[in-house]
Amino acid sequence: MNEHLRRKISEWIEFYRELGIEEFYVRHRYPAPEAGLASAALDGKQSSEPAVNLVPAPTSPTLAPTTPVVSAGFQAQSLSLFEAPPPRRRERESLADIRLDLGDCHRCGLANGRNTIVFGEGNPHAELVFVGEGPGADEDAQGLPFVGRAGQLLNRMIHLIGMKREDVYICNVVKCRPPGNRTPFPDEIEACSPFLFRQLEAIRPRLICCLGAPAVRTVLGIKEGITKIRGRLCDFGAAKALPTVHPAYVLRNPREEKLLREDFEKIRDFLSAGASTIANPIGQRRP
Ligand code: URA
Repeated sequence: MNEHLRRKISEWIEFYRELGIEEFYVRHRYPAPEAGLASAALDGKQSSEPAVNLVPAPTSPTLAPTTPVVSAGFQAQSLSLFEAPPPRRRERESLADIRLDLGDCHRCGLANGRNTIVFGEGNPHAELVFVGEGPGADEDAQGLPFVGRAGQLLNRMIHLIGMKREDVYICNVVKCRPPGNRTPFPDEIEACSPFLFRQLEAIRPRLICCLGAPAVRTVLGIKEGITKIRGRLCDFGAAKALPTVHPAYVLRNPREEKLLREDFEKIRDFLSAGASTIANPIGQRRP
């Protein structure tokens, strides 16, 4: 990379840093987005290298961070940069953008055993998002979350509070089925959860219902047992999160259905009346 480009990149990074932006995506494009923008063009020669476009990572005052690919202290040598006025702050990314970025994901070992990536389903503007643990056999076969027996119970609870499945958004901590429906491993959650947080950021629901301990741990960072924490409204940036038991747990322990019902009634009360009417709210970390 020539000196001129190196200096330009430093200036851009400095510019963004002053705006408070410290993380960037590197977006690869094939071919170069516009003639004259890639470094090869600036150098006056052709290159087979993809052009790379430096994009500030979406900043979120409220929700968890997205996946930083490059931080402000990055080594710029491998990048090409186009000469253009610094872009304006990026618009909020859509679920479609996130799905596209996920691609045919092989970021963790779960890719080897899956049939389908289960990205998530529902209203992209939902006030209520459910986060489960990970796809099971039915979900893996159909590519949709919560379509098996646990899903039928979830649908029943959604109807119980006067909502329809199409009103809400449903997704999971991991998007590929863990073998034998085991709990996802930490490295799998680490690889996958940035996409979950980006989905939450894209939707910006009022309430996130965490179904079971892995969802509570991932979304809220709370390691406490689900039976202790369930039904307690937690802060999640500007939104709220409500941990509850996983529907699969209720299928195994039918007498516990009352817990799920109780928590869904809280969901209904929260969405219809607002947070202040809910008893027992607890503060949690800012994600
Ligand atoms: N259990 C989950 O946690 N998620 C699903 O999508 C289905 C079952």
